[in-house]
Amino acid sequence: MMIRELTALDEFDAFSQLEARIWGATDPTPRSLLVVFSRHGGVVLGAYDRGQLVGISLGFPGLDEDGRTYLHSHVLGVVMEYRGRGVGQALKRAQWTYAERAGLPYVGWTFDPLMAQNAWFNLAVLGAEVADVLENAYGSLNDAINGTAPTHRLWVRWNPQKPPRRQNGGDEALMAIPANVETLRRQDPHRARTQQEEFFQEISARWQAGWRIDGVVRQEGQVWYRWVKTARESGRGS
Ligand SMILES: CC(C)(COP(=O)(O)OP(=O)(O)OC[C@H]1O[C@@H](n2cnc3c(N)ncnc32)[C@H](O)[C@@H]1OP(=O)(O)O)[C@@H](O)C(=O)NCCC(=O)NCCS
Repeated sequence: MMIRELTALDEFDAFSQLEARIWGATDPTPRSLLVVFSRHGGVVLGAYDRGQLVGISLGFPGLDEDGRTYLHSHVLGVVMEYRGRGVGQALKRAQWTYAERAGLPYVGWTFDPLMAQNAWFNLAVLGAEVADVLENAYGSLNDAINGTAPTHRLWVRWNPQKPPRRQNGGDEALMAIPANVETLRRQDPHRARTQQEEFFQEISARWQAGWRIDGVVRQEGQVWYRWVKTARESGRGS
């Protein structure tokens, strides 16, 4: 397995094609934007196995609410047959290497809080920190992973050299992430949407009440968010 930066036009086409395949989307990132990101401060990465592109990531500098420049990661995808073999993690670490060299303090991105495996990947495998809750961040994406549902997201920040501090001493609560969200979205979009809204309302209410997600717990395939509430919680930028 090799991770390398993509710079040629045909490599960008291969990126877009793989993105369309992974997300079942008709409007992947166009080549022209990949060129712009790659030439002007961003990083377009590919994971290759024996010459075959099997994973992709896209990152570019963004400005956060505190006026700090960070590396915004917009795409991370691995083809189905290669998942669970460390490719996603290797792509993410390569993004961090890029960010660190550029003097950026963290990599930031969003993920769907209902995707239990992604929650595990982001919060437990990588050790990212949930820094905000975003309602319908991108509008409806209408692809195979998200369906037509609103895109509620958690915003995370990640600096592997500064893992989030464990919050001790406050109230604690576990919130189970419903299983098989992708299947339900395909088979019963109406029920999936109701479930998503209920779950997001619960997340939003807790967040607004000052609770913070302090990681995930997993047992026999079930994943829970671990919430904590301490007196000194203050919100994004803390
Ligand atoms: C999320 C994703 C990039 C992870 O890539 P990956 O190469 O499978 O991840 P790694 O092998 O480095 O890490 C595996 C860990 O991630 C978790 N994981 C997340 N999604 C997974 C998936 N679909 N299949 C297998 N493992 C997955 C596993 O639980 C595993 O942790 P464990 O070994 O403790 O069980 C990949 O599953 C993917 O492309 N998903 C579809 C696109 C997507 O949702 N992208 C958004 C990412 S925020």
